[in-house]
Amino acid sequence: MWTAPLEAQTVWLDELDLSAATQGFGMPGKNKSVDGKPITIAGKTFKRGFGTHSVSSLLILLDGKASSFSAMVGIDDEVAGHEPAAEFQIFGDGKKLWSSGIMRLGDSARSCSVALSGVKKLELVVADGGNGNYYDHADWADAKFEALGANAFVTINPVSSTPYILTPAPPATPRINGASVFGVRPGSPFLFRIAATGERPMTFSALGLPKGLKIDPRTGIITGRVSNAGTFNVTLGAKNARGTASKKFRIVCGDRIGLTPPMGWNSWNCFAGEVSADKVKRAADALIKSGLVNHGWTYINIDDFWQNHRDSEDQTIRGKLRDDSGRIVANSRFGNMKLLADYVHGLGLKIGLYSSPGPWTCGGCAGSYGYEKQDAESYGKWGFDYLKYDWCSYGGVIDGMADNDPYKVGSLSYQGGGDLPTAVKPFKIMGDYLREQPRDIIYSLCQYGMSDVWKWGGSVGGTSWRTTNDITDTWASVKSIALEQDKAAAWAKPGNWNDPDMLVVGTVGWGNPHPSRLKPDEQYLHISLWSLFSSPLLIGCDMEKLDDFTLNLLTNDEVIAVNQDPLGKQATCVYTDGELRVYVKELEDGSRAVGFCNFGLEKVERSFRDFEKLGISGRQTVRDLWRQKDVATLGATQSKLTLNIPVHGVLLYKFSPSNR
Ligand code: GAL
Repeated sequence: MWTAPLEAQTVWLDELDLSAATQGFGMPGKNKSVDGKPITIAGKTFKRGFGTHSVSSLLILLDGKASSFSAMVGIDDEVAGHEPAAEFQIFGDGKKLWSSGIMRLGDSARSCSVALSGVKKLELVVADGGNGNYYDHADWADAKFEALGANAFVTINPVSSTPYILTPAPPATPRINGASVFGVRPGSPFLFRIAATGERPMTFSALGLPKGLKIDPRTGIITGRVSNAGTFNVTLGAKNARGTASKKFRIVCGDRIGLTPPMGWNSWNCFAGEVSADKVKRAADALIKSGLVNHGWTYINIDDFWQNHRDSEDQTIRGKLRDDSGRIVANSRFGNMKLLADYVHGLGLKIGLYSSPGPWTCGGCAGSYGYEKQDAESYGKWGFDYLKYDWCSYGGVIDGMADNDPYKVGSLSYQGGGDLPTAVKPFKIMGDYLREQPRDIIYSLCQYGMSDVWKWGGSVGGTSWRTTNDITDTWASVKSIALEQDKAAAWAKPGNWNDPDMLVVGTVGWGNPHPSRLKPDEQYLHISLWSLFSSPLLIGCDMEKLDDFTLNLLTNDEVIAVNQDPLGKQATCVYTDGELRVYVKELEDGSRAVGFCNFGLEKVERSFRDFEKLGISGRQTVRDLWRQKDVATLGATQSKLTLNIPVHGVLLYKFSPSNR
């Protein structure tokens, strides 16, 4: 029989469904840049192409039907004034076929032409060029395939979009959750609300409380002051119509606070510059109503924009920056900060706020430069429990540009301040003033990991410090942040935590609310890793829009217990095989939490027997923490585990030595 010869045709990349691409920022552009403008590289405009943002990946099924791919690649001119750097890469069936080398703004487009015969799956990648992916607007211009017997190709995103709930509902009988150790300084106000699930009404008790503390049996809120340093072993109790529960709880009265990573909510990832006292109160109410409080979530933190702004057109945030005696004035959306703090404390929760050591915050509101003492006193007087202190315009102070517009010193503002004493100085100043206040204030340093902050953050009184740049709700962001945490791990300990930034689950959007763009498996991986990292857990979503899937992520007490483990160790990656990365965290009771993490684009389906590489030997009970059930006993008859991990997914297991 005669068959027609296969016809050679051109298939343009922009004719394919580009929405399957994942990228670090914005939406894929069809014949447009990522900002929706004409594709332009080094002054040359291209009619066709794919505009994206690193870190970007587009998977195309070719099925052996393409003979070649060609394109002109480069950084889009629309980011003039910034310093992007990115590398274009092409992979065929997992093998690197071509790379552009690092490309910068103004480099003329590089031409690529790759032979593809036999290639089934092609991946077009734009990787970060080594300086973070800020402003990496990247174009695959004039991109096309020469194909044989095909006039289109299918693009795929192998990460599943179907949400599924793993966390079992808590039983109706009482169960006490949350931290089992709590630090307070002698004489400071004490506030701790027992976190317990189970049917209401419930009554609470606390046996062995040190002198000066009392519990409200109706609410489970413990208040008072402990005047003597020491460790106090308390037994917490909870009782309802179905039964009773108790839990050992250690109150350590001494110098250290934040003995387990702070857990709560922060306004930035959902409201950004639109925050108000009303929204903060509603977030606090929702934290109670949703039941999150019963799992240990405690802090309600206001980020940037509670102060007045230097030049905003929005009059609700304009006004005197400071009063005549130099005291910071909250903007009209906030008014009386003490009333707000009292409201939050009345719920048994704690409250935080935000400032900068520079004259301006990152958003252009009044910072603390030159007024550190007054500001620390105001926070203390109002009753705040947490300060996030964000570098922002301090770069300008170093350069003697303190009075300039923070936006003009924009690129400087992210600079580390050169030598170590300069980098440390502003944080030490505020740390010392916070310490003088008659209350315990968690001190959260935010300078994106500059000058190896993990090595000195504790010495300036820091409870936690950001290790990396701002998170966004993209896989590229979560992955790159996760991969950078190991370097700081050795410095994590009770009272000193590395902070990979806030959570991006639920409705987020920095003022433009949308459901997190992380896929369900990516969200399980995100929460598992942040728990393994002993990271502060700050929910970044709109608390009034919590859906069942998000609640399932945030209420798994066995997962939270990994984060809150009193030993305070941070997991590190101890085993890699391709894109399988295994993180291990030692726990106080001698067991280990192990995250089998799939960072790749293929499912992991294999058996695993390298337990010694994880520091694990002998008989072990293996428990799946998300599903809250034992899945294996190793060492007796079983010597391997079968791993089935979805793309960008995780298995979070606990290995406990067993004598059975
Ligand atoms: C950034 C910081 C964010 C947020 C923002 C406020 O520098 O990393 O988490 O606080 O400033 O303007």
